[in-house]
Amino acid sequence: MEKRYKWGILAPGKMAGKFTNALKHLDNAELYAVGSRDLRRAEKFAADNGFRKFYGSYRELAEDPGVDIVYIASPHSHHREQAILCMKNGKAVLCEKAFAINEREVEEMISEASRNKVFLMEALWPPFQPFYRKASEILESGIVGRLLHMECFFSFNPPFHPDDRKFNPELGGGSLLDIGIYPVIDALTFAGVPDGIKAYASFGKTGAEESVSAIFRYNDGRMASIYSSFRTNAGIGCVILCERGRISLSRGRDMNQTVILEPDDMEKETYVFNPPAMGYHWEAGEVMRCLDDGLTESPVVPLSFSRNLIRTLDRIRHDAGIRLPQD
Ligand SMILES: NC(=O)c1ccc[n+]([C@@H]2O[C@H](COP(=O)([O-])OP(=O)(O)OC[C@H]3O[C@@H](n4cnc5c(N)ncnc54)[C@H](OP(=O)(O)O)[C@@H]3O)[C@@H](O)[C@H]2O)c1
Repeated sequence: MEKRYKWGILAPGKMAGKFTNALKHLDNAELYAVGSRDLRRAEKFAADNGFRKFYGSYRELAEDPGVDIVYIASPHSHHREQAILCMKNGKAVLCEKAFAINEREVEEMISEASRNKVFLMEALWPPFQPFYRKASEILESGIVGRLLHMECFFSFNPPFHPDDRKFNPELGGGSLLDIGIYPVIDALTFAGVPDGIKAYASFGKTGAEESVSAIFRYNDGRMASIYSSFRTNAGIGCVILCERGRISLSRGRDMNQTVILEPDDMEKETYVFNPPAMGYHWEAGEVMRCLDDGLTESPVVPLSFSRNLIRTLDRIRHDAGIRLPQD
C-alpha cells in the first residue's frame, strides 16, 4: 500500500497557502500540522485548510514526532536556521527559494542534512513544469541548433512597504533572491554555470536592491542576459536564441505556460500548458517519491544544483555591490 506522508507547514504566509492547495492534489500527502510564530495564525490556517494540529512556535512543529516532511515558507533570511532545526529533529525538508542568503548558509544546511541522513530539497518549481520540459526537448532535438544567447527576465511592480520582506534587507529583501533567481535558473538549466559575470543593480529607499541586470559569459562564446526588478512589469519569461531559430518561454498572469518554437525555415509552433495548483504539487510529489525510494536528495533538483545556484547569486551580488546584513 502507498505510504502517506504527514506534512508540516512552517510559516503559514502567502506562499504556504498556495503550496497547501497543491498538497491537496496528492493522495499520499496528509495535511498534518502547522507551525507559526503566532498560535492564532496557526490555528486559523489549520482550520481553513483541514490540518489536524497547530503550534504557536516552529520548534514545537519540528519536535512533533508525527511530522514526516516540513515545508518551510518563511522569508529567506530564516531558511537556514529553520531548516537546521527541522533536520536536527530528523525531518525531511522542502525549503522555499532562495534556499538561504548566501553560499555559507546553504553549505551549513547541506552539511546538516548529511549529518542527520535526512532528505533536503530547495522548492524550485521550474524543473517540473511542462514548459521547461518542452524547451529542453526542443533543444535536445537539434531542430533550432545550438543555443547561442538567452534573454531571461522576471519583473513585477509590487506596492512598496518598507517592512515587506521584498524590500526589507534584514529579511533578505531585493529582487534578485526573490524573483531574479528564476532568470538565473533559466540560464543554469539551459546554458550551464557561467564563466564570467558582469552585474549592475539599483537600490531603493530601504537600501534593498530593486533592479538587477547581469550578463553571463561562457568561454565558448555563448551569453545570457539576466534581468529582475520590482519597478517594471515585464512578467516572467525567457527567449533562447539558437543557430537556426528561437524558443520563447513565458508564464502568464493566468499562470498558463507557453512555449513558442520559431525555427528560421519552418512554421511557428505554440504549446500552452495549464497545470493545476500552478504545478507546485510536482515538487511535493517528488519529495515523497524520493522518500519512498530511500533517497536523501532529489535527482530532479539535486543539492549540487542549489549549490551552483546560490554561488551564482553570490557572484552577481558581489559584482553588483549588493550586500545583505547576513553576509
Ligand atoms: N516558489 C514560489 O513560487 C514562491 C512564491 C512566493 C514566495 N516564495 C518564497 O516563499 C517564502 C515566503 O514568501 P511569502 O510571499 O509567502 O511571504 P509572507 O507572505 O510574508 O509569509 C512569510 C511568513 O513567514 C513567517 N515569518 C517568520 N519570520 C518572519 C519575519 N521576521 N518577518 C515576516 N514573516 C516572518 C510569517 O509567518 P508566521 O509569523 O505566521 O510564522 C509569514 O507569514 C520566501 O522565501 C519566498 O521567496 C516562493
